[in-house]
Parts: sequence; C-alpha cells; structure tokens
Amino acid sequence: MEIFTRLRGMKDILSEEIEIWKKIESVFIETSELFGFKEIRTPILENKYLFERGIGSNTDIVMKEMYEFKDKKGREVALRPEGTASVVRAYIENRVYSTKKIARFYYYGPMFRYDRPQKGRYRQFYQFGIEIFGGKSPFFDFETIQVLDFSFKKLRIENFVFYINSLGCKTCKKVYIEEIKKYFRERVNNLCEDCRRRIEKNPLRVFDCKNSMCKTELKNIPSILDFLCEECKNHFDVLIELLSKFNINYKIAPHLVRGLDYYTKTVFEVFVEKEDIAIAGGGRYDDLVHDMGGPDIPAVGFAAGIDRIVPLVNQKNIKKIETIYFIILGEKAKIKGLEIIRKMIEEKIGIEIDYEERNLKEHLSIANKLGKKWCIILGENEIEKKVLILKNMEDGSQIELKEDTMIEKIKEIVKC
Ligand code: HAM
Repeated sequence: MEIFTRLRGMKDILSEEIEIWKKIESVFIETSELFGFKEIRTPILENKYLFERGIGSNTDIVMKEMYEFKDKKGREVALRPEGTASVVRAYIENRVYSTKKIARFYYYGPMFRYDRPQKGRYRQFYQFGIEIFGGKSPFFDFETIQVLDFSFKKLRIENFVFYINSLGCKTCKKVYIEEIKKYFRERVNNLCEDCRRRIEKNPLRVFDCKNSMCKTELKNIPSILDFLCEECKNHFDVLIELLSKFNINYKIAPHLVRGLDYYTKTVFEVFVEKEDIAIAGGGRYDDLVHDMGGPDIPAVGFAAGIDRIVPLVNQKNIKKIETIYFIILGEKAKIKGLEIIRKMIEEKIGIEIDYEERNLKEHLSIANKLGKKWCIILGENEIEKKVLILKNMEDGSQIELKEDTMIEKIKEIVKC
C-alpha cells in the first residue's frame, strides 16, 4: 500500500512548534494594528498573468518558480508566489483609492515558489506583509521599517540588520541601467549563459544570480547611489537620517536590488548575518498601481518570512496555554466527570482527558510524558465524599477540593 508523504519543500507544522508560529503572527498583527493597518485577505489562486505583470516576466520567481497550471476551463492560473501583486490587484479592483487617501493593509498566509529546497527555503512558506498605498514621503518607508523593527525586538530576535539601498525612479534607474549594460557587455565572457541574456533584457537581474563567476563580476560594479536624481537622493537621505535618529540598526547596501521588478527608490532586506539569511524584504513601488491599470498612486511595503523567523525565537519566551490533565477512574465517575469538565470549560479552565479505561498509575505516567503540571483525579471515593483531588505533578503533593468551591480554588491555585 502506498504510504503518502508530503511534497518536496512542503512541511507539516506540528503542535510542539505551533505556539511559536502563533506568537510571531500575533506580534506582527499587534504591531501593524497599532500603526493603523487593517487586514486584507486575497485568494491564494490568481490569474497567472497578474504575477507576470506585477513581479516581472524576467524575474526568477516568474520564469522558474511559479506553480502554474490550467484550471478545468483552461484558464491559466498560479498559486501566489508573494502577496504584493494580489494586494495591488485588490486595491485597484475594489477602488480603495476612491475612499482612502492613505490605505494601510496587512496580510498573512502561505506563498508558493518552486525553488530548490534548502535551509530556510521552502516551496510553501508563510509571509506576513504590509502595504501602504497613497504616500510618497520617505516617512512612509520609515514606518514600514519601524513595524519590522518593533516586531523583531518584541520577538527578541538578535543581531538583525536592515540592508538599505535605493533603486531610483524610472528616470535615474534608466541611466543606471545603461551604465551597467556597458559594464556587463565588457565582461560578457565571464558571465553565465542566463546572465548574458539578462544583460539586454533586464541587467538588474544579474545581481540575483547565484553563479560564483557572475558574483565576482559584480564586485566592482558602479553603485546606483551615484546615479540618483535629486528627488531620489533626497528621499534616500531623509530615510537614512530617520534610521540614524531612531537608532535602527542599518547598513547601506549599494548592491541590493531585490529579486522583483516593481521596486523604485527604497529597497531593503532584514538580514541575520550569523545565520546568513534574509528574514524580511521590501521597498517602494511607486509605478506598480499605475502599471497594473490603476491610478498613479505610490506605495511601499514589506514581507517577512515566518518560516525563517521561527528558529530564531526562543521557546522560553513563549507563554503556553496550560491544560490540566483530568483523570476519571471507573465507570461511575464518567458522567460526574463530564459535568465538572463542562463547568471548567465554561469558566475557561483548560483540560485534557483520556476517556479510555486505565488505572491511576497509567494515567499519571501519561500526564508526566505530556509534561503536565497539574492533574485532577476523580474516582468513586471522591464522588461519595463530594470532592476531587488536585495533584501537583512537580512536587507530587495533592489536596482535596470541595465540589461547591472547586472552580474558584482551581483558579486560585493553578492560576489559569
Ligand atoms: P521577498 O524578498 O521575495 O519579497 O520575500 C520576503 C521574505 O519572504 C524573504 O525575505 C524571506 O524571508 C521569505 N521567503 C521568500 N522566499 C522564501 C522561501 N522559498 N522559503 C522561505 N521563506 C521565503 C516579497 O515577497 C515582496 N512581496 C515583499 C514586499 C512587499 N515588497 C513590497 N511589499
């Protein structure tokens, strides 16, 4: 018989880990909501061409990594590889701009990229992201960075640094692209085959190449920061000033271009150098709303990779919901046990129970294996005496609680 296994690059998140996931999600949600962001939920499946147009047809994500297929009516669809293109589509389709000058969204959910799985890289992974529409001031860029900074500090992530760069606007980007085309043409023989093609089509994508020869050639490439027009330079300078003023740990990274085509001006990544991994990335995309058929509206945002953040969060900082292990001994105690359990649930006291016939020793050993701090024991003796036993599993002590006051007593002792 075939035993099914999960697909490559996909994973199960089991209950031992889930509290960390929930903690990370709640920190991001809380921080975003404090900054006035509201949740948006868009479909996981979209028209494939949305991503081609949104992310760029020459990007690795679109060329190599999309989960795409035809649906039953032959429509070309794709699992979303990221959230920004969908949020932009929803923003335009629902004409949000007609009611809100500034619209702030956050989203959370699975994304899909058919990449080669390795440490921190999965084919289904989770992103928490935010997008702000309608603001062109660098203060909005700073706000997105602040949401990340506050969240990572709250999660006690250590040694994270913001790599910051600017890609300029259409005008200065064009000048820079001509400059690097010249640079690459002179070194064409040292580049991989893919990059030779990229030189004419989209030379910025050479920066993403993982080939070591191409990486070497990038070492002496001119910096885009030397090509910024006055407005873009000013935008970048204001942002850098804000980062310095508020002690955000940043480094200017003139070679950071990001792997998606929609960026203009600010781009950034949050890097944990010790782990050699980017845990978030984002930037400004002032032309995308217009390029996707909407009005001329600037935007900026980020997405954080939750799968990569999970291993960086210390289990000790996670508060788990404790449940009491409820032991029912003997047939007669079952119904009485259920009555008490119903009262406890109503009073929000969590319990965990095994309804199978077992003796006390077996039950206690199960509770121990589950790491339970408290057990409640209810047998025929206790029913007769109208009590139940609360047992402390750490020191082995136990007390009898009277039926009519037991809920208050449990709350007081167990502090649940
Ligand atoms: P991205 O850099 O492609 O940007 O992804 C953001 C983050 O998602 C990465 O920094 C990483 O932590 C995580 N991530 C990406 N791919 C994988 C993977 N295969 N496995 C695990 N984690 C991964 C975006 O997606 C943009 N939409 C961000 C953005 C929003 N820019 C503006 N607004």
